[in-house]
Amino acid sequence: MVWIAPSILSADFSKLGADVAEVEQGGADWLHVDVMDGHFVPNISFGAPIMRSIAPLTKLPLDVHLMIENPEDYIAEFAKAGASVITVHAEACVHLHRVVHLIKEHGVQAGVALNPGTPVSAIREVLEDLDLVLIMTVNPGFGGQAFIERTVHKIRETRELADSLGMHDLRIEVDGGISADTAGKVVAAGADVLVAGSAVYGASDRAEAIRVIRESAER
Ligand code: DX5
Ligand code: ZN
Repeated sequence: MVWIAPSILSADFSKLGADVAEVEQGGADWLHVDVMDGHFVPNISFGAPIMRSIAPLTKLPLDVHLMIENPEDYIAEFAKAGASVITVHAEACVHLHRVVHLIKEHGVQAGVALNPGTPVSAIREVLEDLDLVLIMTVNPGFGGQAFIERTVHKIRETRELADSLGMHDLRIEVDGGISADTAGKVVAAGADVLVAGSAVYGASDRAEAIRVIRESAER
């Protein structure tokens, strides 16, 4: 079963509540929340206060993608703000094992993200503790970038590794440049959570955009 997670990074922040409701009614499975600090990535988005305002408005699980340095300092705050999943970047964590366990101690599902330049081996030692691996299919920082083909083999490698360990429930998420054109190949490689920012929020009919991505994913 493939899940679609629209990213509110591409929503209109002046009417965020309405934009969230539209994708919820349009069949989204998760809501992807992109947090950027202007240090780990060259862009600043928003923090926990915005998430706290959204959380009571939606039943969608909040899928928090922390593109920030020192993520360990913010886990408690995002857990309290209503996160269902918190994903940190392997590149941002000196003590990755400690951070993963900190997320789980807060009763939140734990994910680790890999930039396009980071090999799958970077998560090998914590893989069995994870609920989700996020394979970035663009360099994080901005919505609307072009999908990097070279990342597809890492999706396959992660799925094969998870299968060989009997981790059949591991979610493999992809993020960046996902649209009806790219959904098919990432799902064929083993992804089962598709983040889509501009492909959903850039469309005038968001429900139709979600439907079209799901259709190409499940074909
Ligand atoms: C990129 C963010 C993405 C972004 C994806 O740094 O992590 O979640 O919103 O946007 P699209 O789908 O437009 O590439
Ligand atoms: Zn993201």
